[in-house]
Amino acid sequence: MHHEKLADKMEFPPETPQPNVYPLSWHCQTEKLEEVWDASQREYWDPKKLPWDTFDPSSYSWEEREAIAYWWTLLSVFDASAPPVFAEAFIKTYEMHEEDAVRRCFFSVTRDEQNHEQMCGMAITRLLEHPDPLTYTPKTELGLRLQKNAKWLYHNGGRYWTGYKAAVPKYSLAVLFSSFLMGEIAAATIFHQMAAGCTEPVFQEGFRNIGRDEGRHMAICMALMERDYPKMDLSEKPIITKQVRAGYLFLSAVLFEPPADFWDLPADFIANQREGETVARQAGFFIPEYDGKLENWKQAMLNLKGVLDKYDIPFPAIPEVGITGEEINDVDMADIIPVF
Ligand SMILES: [Fe+2]
Ligand SMILES: [Fe+2]
Repeated sequence: MHHEKLADKMEFPPETPQPNVYPLSWHCQTEKLEEVWDASQREYWDPKKLPWDTFDPSSYSWEEREAIAYWWTLLSVFDASAPPVFAEAFIKTYEMHEEDAVRRCFFSVTRDEQNHEQMCGMAITRLLEHPDPLTYTPKTELGLRLQKNAKWLYHNGGRYWTGYKAAVPKYSLAVLFSSFLMGEIAAATIFHQMAAGCTEPVFQEGFRNIGRDEGRHMAICMALMERDYPKMDLSEKPIITKQVRAGYLFLSAVLFEPPADFWDLPADFIANQREGETVARQAGFFIPEYDGKLENWKQAMLNLKGVLDKYDIPFPAIPEVGITGEEINDVDMADIIPVF
């Protein structure tokens, strides 16, 4: 592109049109974010350096291997989209000329999520001796049914990227944070439990690291909400209420069970998943039972409600876990922001 020269016509250049992905500034306001960034540097871990040499997949039956790999695949449906999702939000922090520490914190989240995705890939590849759970040839009848589940999950997850890309420029960072927070609270809960319950050292350590990362992501969202919510535009509150309901429906697939009216799944999906989880659990791969999941999910929702109540943001009704609130009915996969 050829631009007309201005430098010989004026002493100073014209204003650069905004938003422009080019902050020439390093403002520092939110002290808490500086602490979180420092922690992310200190706590950085490399999935390759986990004790993989202690993990011998051949000590498990093929049914157990396929059942455990299924859980990692289920997690990947959420974690494999997290790096691009946060990369998009990271770019937005530059366009908005956010504080220096906000930009660095989003960089750290993008980097962490890339680690979580690698961890999923390493576990699946070792368990299945194949790097792709959708093209893998199952060795057991249960494995075959779980692969059908995985294909349907992938189909559903694939519908949300276009909606997300459209949402990022449309919404303020304040709205985006509330959606992210939902995923981070939920993620921090489940990974700490799995770290405590799994018998394989490599999974224990992986989950412990992932859980710690998710705790930092949560702290980032909280710090930004504390900064921005007191001056938030009232018109944004209903959007947040709707996003929380959307987040519940979306994340239920990994944290609880996928709600049938939102997820497009075959009738035998939940029965297959429960069977896979039982096999994985008996093999020492801790996945909470139905009641345990329900209780965790409810606690995570109540934590989020506690945060939103402080800013008078109405909470949606979540009858599935016994929380009353505003009825939200018109949620579609295309509307969701939340990530894990
Ligand atoms: Fe994650
Ligand atoms: Fe996260």
